[in-house]
Amino acid sequence: MATINSNFLKLKAGYLFPEIGRRVKAYTESAPDKAARIIRCGIGDVTEPLPSAVRDAMHKAVDEQGDRATFKGYGPEQGYEFLRQAIVDNQFQGLGISADEVFISDGSKCDTGNILDIFGKGNTIAITDPVYPVYVDTNVMAGNTGDADDNGAYAGLLYMPCTAVNNFVADVPSEKADLIYLCFPNNPTGAVATREQLTAWVAYAKANKAIILFDAAYEAFIQDADIPRSIYEIEGAKDCAIEFRSFSKNGGFTGVRCAYTIIPKSVNAFTEDGTAVPLHQLWSRRHSTKFNGASYPVQAGAAAVFSEEGKQQVATLIEGYMGNAKLLREACIALGLQVFGGENAPYVWVGCPEGVTSWGMFDKMLQEAQVVITPGSGFGSAGEGYFRISAFNSRENVLEVCERLKNLIK
Ligand code: MLT
Repeated sequence: MATINSNFLKLKAGYLFPEIGRRVKAYTESAPDKAARIIRCGIGDVTEPLPSAVRDAMHKAVDEQGDRATFKGYGPEQGYEFLRQAIVDNQFQGLGISADEVFISDGSKCDTGNILDIFGKGNTIAITDPVYPVYVDTNVMAGNTGDADDNGAYAGLLYMPCTAVNNFVADVPSEKADLIYLCFPNNPTGAVATREQLTAWVAYAKANKAIILFDAAYEAFIQDADIPRSIYEIEGAKDCAIEFRSFSKNGGFTGVRCAYTIIPKSVNAFTEDGTAVPLHQLWSRRHSTKFNGASYPVQAGAAAVFSEEGKQQVATLIEGYMGNAKLLREACIALGLQVFGGENAPYVWVGCPEGVTSWGMFDKMLQEAQVVITPGSGFGSAGEGYFRISAFNSRENVLEVCERLKNLIK
């Protein structure tokens, strides 16, 4: 008899974004005349085309694959040297990260989930609430939690509430944790952490021999020069932090797939008898066994993000999305709603009108304004009473969303 991984049976609902997709589909089936009006500001999926510098590099790489003299078969599992070095030169200059500490992959969602392969059982996992659901669900699947309660909170996880009181930046807990997920700029709230706050986290991790899993997928959206872009800007982080980055949101790679994870060779975790083991060697081994590398044309396209032309084109994309975030923020503020985020992140986190729940707001926006948003409670129980608007859209659509919001909430 083949048995299943029964941890999967603990998972509460479907993954948030497919669930939203299901509800939008049901609505369009019940109101087909409204389907064409729908504007999607739910999932944070980019809408603007790939930069031409990226496309040109990908075309060239595909042509190389059509010529025996330049054809490439399996690449290095950890990624091509040209991309690993370009990442270090352009993103980690002066932070002491070397190219062989960069691991190229096909996405940060995969990396933040797969990373659990190299950690043992019995770790105390600290997770913010609200949170990017992948961190929670992958821990459930890995058997790192008990069952969920009626609020969807899993036994065994150390939840760190993020509310308006702490400006949606988790305080260092009084309890001891072994693995800590931090995401800055934050998905879903758009919050950013100051240098002092990250310094406190690094000190906590070092004191507890814990590892920080730092998701910096939205780093390119930081506008404020004082906000750290990488955890490695904090002294000591190279001993206790893994950083995840992506080309999805800056280079528009959500449909192309390329990301990377930084594991400094100085980051150790421990065997049960307390022997230190570098996580770098475990992740490298995992990559070699379970992954054959992102494709050559994709990595060539990713490297072009760092060409002079690519940098300018990416800056234009970011400027457009952040301009959208500003418009959405201003529209919600003008309506008297409580507004967070959207200043250093492409997500605007908004308090629901009085007496309306997160899913209530989702339904209202969909049915009365034909705008898809993400209900805050989908990111955790502390997200109840909020909704998230994604700024990834065309300017035209964002202006229309602002107009519809005005008509909806008078
Ligand atoms: C989101 O909308 O939260 C993101 O698109 C999810 C992701 O990047 O996987």
